[in-house]
Amino acid sequence: MSHLFPTYQRWEIEPEKASGSVIHGKDGREYLDFTSGIGVCNLGHRPEAVEHAIKEQLELFWHVSNLFPQSIQEEAARKLVKASGLDCVFFANSGAEANEAAIKLARKATGRKKIITFLQSFHGRTFAGMAATGQEKIKHGFGNMLETFVHLPFNDLEALKNEIDSDTAAVMIEIVQGEGGIHVVHEEFIKETGKLCTENGILLIVDEIQTGIGRTGKPFAFQHFGISPDIITVAKGLGNGLPIGAAVGKAELAEHFGPGSHGSTFGGNPISTAAACAVMDIIFENEFLKEVSAKGETLFQLLDHELGCLEVVKEIRGIGLMAGIELTVAAQPYLMQLRKSGLIVLPAGEKVIRLLPPLNVSAEELEKAVSLIKEILINQTVTA
Ligand SMILES: Cc1ncc(COP(=O)(O)O)c(C=O)c1O
Repeated sequence: MSHLFPTYQRWEIEPEKASGSVIHGKDGREYLDFTSGIGVCNLGHRPEAVEHAIKEQLELFWHVSNLFPQSIQEEAARKLVKASGLDCVFFANSGAEANEAAIKLARKATGRKKIITFLQSFHGRTFAGMAATGQEKIKHGFGNMLETFVHLPFNDLEALKNEIDSDTAAVMIEIVQGEGGIHVVHEEFIKETGKLCTENGILLIVDEIQTGIGRTGKPFAFQHFGISPDIITVAKGLGNGLPIGAAVGKAELAEHFGPGSHGSTFGGNPISTAAACAVMDIIFENEFLKEVSAKGETLFQLLDHELGCLEVVKEIRGIGLMAGIELTVAAQPYLMQLRKSGLIVLPAGEKVIRLLPPLNVSAEELEKAVSLIKEILINQTVTA
């Protein structure tokens, strides 16, 4: 009997070890991992450079507390700032905590309370993260939510214009809604949102927790649209598996996050920040990002060509190496069949198969994955 709270419906595969794009199960089988640990292991499992950086820091110190200056934190912050064009970093341990920091900072800096988010969004499982999330199922059974948050239809500019008022502190948005079904923001909507925020003294918070760290072919997904967020939040891929999150903001916000205003015992842990430095050194290189975009194009060409005409496929969406295949029926039975055939993928919402392969996935692995998906979708359709 398991002594873990059953908060997760676990799969039938227990990993024994993992490297690159492959998980070796205790059942003796190899599985192609197109989940990257839910958008985390963007360089695959146990990339050498990251492992080396972790080991090097392990030999120095593991934890000393945030009362000490730590050059490894400064180095990680410098890399985030350089890649994002923002100025200051608060390190946390997870995505939800990064969002908590952003929400607190936005309220304190503006002196306003309302935060606008969107239906189908996902911002984490803490009380503020849950309240910010635009999905009822996440909130079920937990009673009253924080009143700070208002949820609007995604990509609806009129709704946004009507909702904004003098008590609006921030608009918080994912450029691609990941958990909510791989919905990509419309260019005009996000650009107009940026303008509306500037005109009304409202902070634009972009949640880059799933889309950031190269996932879409840019360091951060907002960079596809030439907008200038006030705060971005990052986690998942930043540590390639070591727990770390960050809220990255504009310089003028720094005075509102002075000593004693916010904190975290483990935030910016030296082992995690050492991993993050190694990750960013690789992923933020232009050549690497170009490769991600090229592989993304290959993936979408394959998906459109091989799956686009199947009756069970409703729509294929995404950017870079973040893809969603919306089906006309529930995705779960297909996911189980895919695992049996050696490919691990994720759901997003009820009907979407979500692909988050490692960013250094090979062309052969992309081809193999798409052909397995095609096979399962065809066979299941025939027997359905
Ligand atoms: C967009 C987004 N925000 C926030 C989170 C929460 O991150 P964490 O699980 O690290 O708290 C997630 C996790 O899936 C996410 O995808």
